[in-house]
Amino acid sequence: MSTPLLSARGLSRDYRLPGGALKHALADVDLDVAAGEILAVIGESGSGKSTLARLLLDLDRPTRGRVEFQGRPISTDRRALRAGTGIVLQDPYASLDPRMRVRTTVAEPLRALRVPGDHRRLVAEVLERVGLRPEHAECYPHELSGGQRQRVAIARAVVHRPRLLVGDEPTSALDVTVRAAIVALLRELNATLGLAVVLVSHDLGLVQHLAARVVVMHDGRIVESGPTASVLADPQHTHTRALVAAVPRLPARSTDAAAL
Ligand SMILES: Nc1ncnc2c1ncn2[C@@H]1O[C@H](COP(=O)(O)OP(=O)(O)O)[C@@H](O)[C@H]1O
Ligand SMILES: [Mg+2]
Repeated sequence: MSTPLLSARGLSRDYRLPGGALKHALADVDLDVAAGEILAVIGESGSGKSTLARLLLDLDRPTRGRVEFQGRPISTDRRALRAGTGIVLQDPYASLDPRMRVRTTVAEPLRALRVPGDHRRLVAEVLERVGLRPEHAECYPHELSGGQRQRVAIARAVVHRPRLLVGDEPTSALDVTVRAAIVALLRELNATLGLAVVLVSHDLGLVQHLAARVVVMHDGRIVESGPTASVLADPQHTHTRALVAAVPRLPARSTDAAAL
């Protein structure tokens, strides 16, 4: 097998709680992400999904274990990790600077990475790719809808043409039609740019639409993994069954965003 794009081995993160006890937020996780694949990470609230996402992108340090990006430890080549990855978070409003125009926000990774070329043109291109109009470049976040703001966040996450996008609940704050549009956008970016996506979500409808493979987390561990269709159709682990049972009918469920 060729080298995975991203691989984690024995990844663990303990938090020291105020009383002094240790919380094993992530325990001994092994994970490989292949170039161009869409992998979903599901699990109930508190199962360690966000902790895993942060560790994969070096936004937090593991207590034990390691992560390699393109075959090299992420701690030894931060620039390669920054240049090769992007992240989209749940709340598009919180993740955008209210005082910055869209143009400035989206160009930020280009400046930080000193990407050569015409940044104005690269920003215009990526705005078009995510379904925004050229004039949106001049807007401030408060002038945009929630869906448009999440498109801006995605534009910023992919403007430097990373190979991997990590989304931590990227559609949870959006209503159902906007969610569908963002799903379509992620799928298109995957197909046209060969972008690999790690999609953290507790929205099984979304996961079913988007991800070929899924890992299920419970209490900081991966308890089940496999092709999305078979895992969701025939869940083996108690906690996967509970997740699937919580969704009355896959895929359509208009109340997901509100219920979760
Ligand atoms: N900074 C922190 N300090 C203490 N405990 C934390 C911290 N971050 C996360 N945790 C705990 O680790 C566990 C996993 O959290 P998280 O990764 O956010 O789960 P998820 O994203 O699946 O909801 C939870 O029990 C959470 O309370
Ligand atoms: Mg989370």
